[in-house]
Amino acid sequence: MTGTHAVGILATGSYTPERVLTNADLEKMVETTDEWIVSRTGIRERRISAPEQASSDLAYEAAKKALAKAKIAPEDLDMIIVATVTPDYSFPSTACLLQSRLGAAKAAALDVSAACTGFLYGITTAAQFIANGMYRYVLVVGVETLSKIINYEDRNTCVLFGDGAGAAVIGRVKEGYGFKAFDLGADGSGGELLLQPAGGSRKPATQETIDQKLHFVQMSGSEVFKFAVRVMNSATEKVLDKAGLPKEEIDLLVPHQANYRIIDAAVKRFGLSDDKVVINLDRYGNMSSASIPVALDEAFEEGRIKEGDNIILVGFGGGLTWGATLLKWSTEQA
Ligand code: ACO
Repeated sequence: MTGTHAVGILATGSYTPERVLTNADLEKMVETTDEWIVSRTGIRERRISAPEQASSDLAYEAAKKALAKAKIAPEDLDMIIVATVTPDYSFPSTACLLQSRLGAAKAAALDVSAACTGFLYGITTAAQFIANGMYRYVLVVGVETLSKIINYEDRNTCVLFGDGAGAAVIGRVKEGYGFKAFDLGADGSGGELLLQPAGGSRKPATQETIDQKLHFVQMSGSEVFKFAVRVMNSATEKVLDKAGLPKEEIDLLVPHQANYRIIDAAVKRFGLSDDKVVINLDRYGNMSSASIPVALDEAFEEGRIKEGDNIILVGFGGGLTWGATLLKWSTEQA
């Protein structure tokens, strides 16, 4: 990337709530079957936060682990970016709540709203501040408690989503390593394909909006599916082009975990073998902005990532939005 300093991911951390909601549980709640869910999506179970757990609680657990692995004190953070569509409050931001909880006194704090692409928007933003020398360490967290805004009477959505948090500490790495290319995009004309209709300034929460269940997620599944297949391919191609890397040199693809069939389309397009793709949606479902950082953290902990690997993170989501980055992995600080 252009800029004074090479920038990369120094460490990751993740947290998922204890409670497991299986397909067998959902069979008792809505008209669905384990067979339908597995064959159409690949999902077998998802995690659900406790009633008293809010997004900042999950974010705190993931952030602590990432900071410990990076050997960085919260006081050293210059900025905290939290990507979420399920903030604790409209304001103050979840990033401010996390800043206080961590004791990251000198960190600026802001939330990013780009749905499932939020983590990619967050790390891309963080990297600019570090590349130009303004900041040294930025914490980026993707966190969702989607179970709080899902209608568990709607089989079109309730089988898909789960709760979790993933964090990354972004900082300077050795020359030649770190982020090589970014691609971010949006098509606001598709906003209505995936939205939470009420609770904002367009339709403030009233008894009527609650009775009509407008505070829950609504989705046009097949439209989002087609969009997802298209942008996963184009965003991946763009970062490969920008970085000048042939597809044969991809060591690991960490895609957004929405649907196995969407990932499979990208895998076929780029000719990747199974060991080069991270999939954990069978255990967590779609955790929106938390999906990519949790998958990345698990891949690292399982020893699937080594110094110098070419890794692509790619995702899509509500907005509509999409994004990708290509990085040459090193956690060695410069
Ligand atoms: N169990 C049984 N049947 C179901 C279920 C269910 N859980 N959900 C839907 N169906 C039914 C539908 O009602 C429909 O029935 P009908 O034909 O009688 O009307 C039928 O299954 C087929 O529905 P389709 O939408 O055509 O099924 P499709 O193969 O497209 O799969 C799915 C649906 C899984 C939602 C798919 O479209 C998908 O994954 N889309 C992408 C969704 C996504 O990624 N969303 C997240 C975006 S990221 C973010 O920002 C949050």
